[in-house]
Amino acid sequence: MEVVEETARPARGRRKSSTAPRAVAASALAGVVRPEPPPGPRTALRDRHLLGIRGLEPDEITLVLDTARVMAEIATRPVRKVPTLRAKTVVNFFMEPSTRTRSSFEIAEKRLSADTLNFSPSSSSVTKGESLLDTARNLEAMSPDMIVIRHKASGAPHFLARHCRSAIINAGDGWHEHPTQALLDAYTIRERKGRLSGLTVAIVGDLMHSRVLRSNLFLLKTMGATVRLCGPPTLVPAGLEALGAEVHLRLEPALEGADVVMMLRVQRERQKGTSAFPTAREYFSIFGLTRERVRLAKKDVIIMHPGPMNRGVEIDSAVADGPASVILEQVTNGVAVRMAVLYLLAGGSLGELAS
Ligand code: CP
Repeated sequence: MEVVEETARPARGRRKSSTAPRAVAASALAGVVRPEPPPGPRTALRDRHLLGIRGLEPDEITLVLDTARVMAEIATRPVRKVPTLRAKTVVNFFMEPSTRTRSSFEIAEKRLSADTLNFSPSSSSVTKGESLLDTARNLEAMSPDMIVIRHKASGAPHFLARHCRSAIINAGDGWHEHPTQALLDAYTIRERKGRLSGLTVAIVGDLMHSRVLRSNLFLLKTMGATVRLCGPPTLVPAGLEALGAEVHLRLEPALEGADVVMMLRVQRERQKGTSAFPTAREYFSIFGLTRERVRLAKKDVIIMHPGPMNRGVEIDSAVADGPASVILEQVTNGVAVRMAVLYLLAGGSLGELAS
């Protein structure tokens, strides 16, 4: 795994903190000491960046999900736009392909009236050999308020956070994290099931290369869900049990009685010339989600996939398009969740929004 720097850094202080530190409590991250939260519901995120789910407290996750609920209401209005981020500039700096994340960030920014700037390898000087730091410094010279970054290197957003004044949002870094995907997944689950705590969530597929898996695992464990992970031995990295997951090498026991089944894409492009299994047909026969296998889960199970999907490899079309599928709902919810993240990182509060 490519790592630009260590990823579990202490959170940097918000520029506009509304809470004075009163006492200290041991953090979930070893060696990190954080201010104890004030009494009452949380109204702001502690860090001014969103670099990952790891290290977020349960009440911060709840704050994002509650804020997203208010944002979702905006989409139902005749005029689906609010002036909340007027005069703010957001740079979308996507150095890897994206359909859902990039377009939903763009829609979210437009609904909040932000000015947006889009950078991709084909439209920037990165292909001419410019370093990530030089590119970021040049973007910063144009004084954006936030930079949304997707990059193939794990830790790239953390690197920018150390060198930039702008708030940094991780839109997927290498094999590491994809925090807004996990937040929109959690929002979708909570809307459908009414809670996260106590649910059994089976996550199946290419566990090795999946930043979606890592962010979901951190989030679901933080919120009190049971997480079962399943994939072929060649795609199961070491150390997942230590993060609190049950690991299964057979699909059937992983699905048994599950409330939620989340399928992951086989990321052949990250397998670097080797193949983790003989053929796609064989993979599907052992790990593919079919209607018959869905029957092992709870009757009211929901089926999720972050996309893009490999139909006939990890999931059968009858399941992807079937009644239990919430795959397109995830995409819809992504806009509200990203609006919530942008709003909160810009210093907005849920109370202000609700009033
Ligand atoms: N889920 C997800 O990250 O999709 P994209 O790669 O299309 O953004």
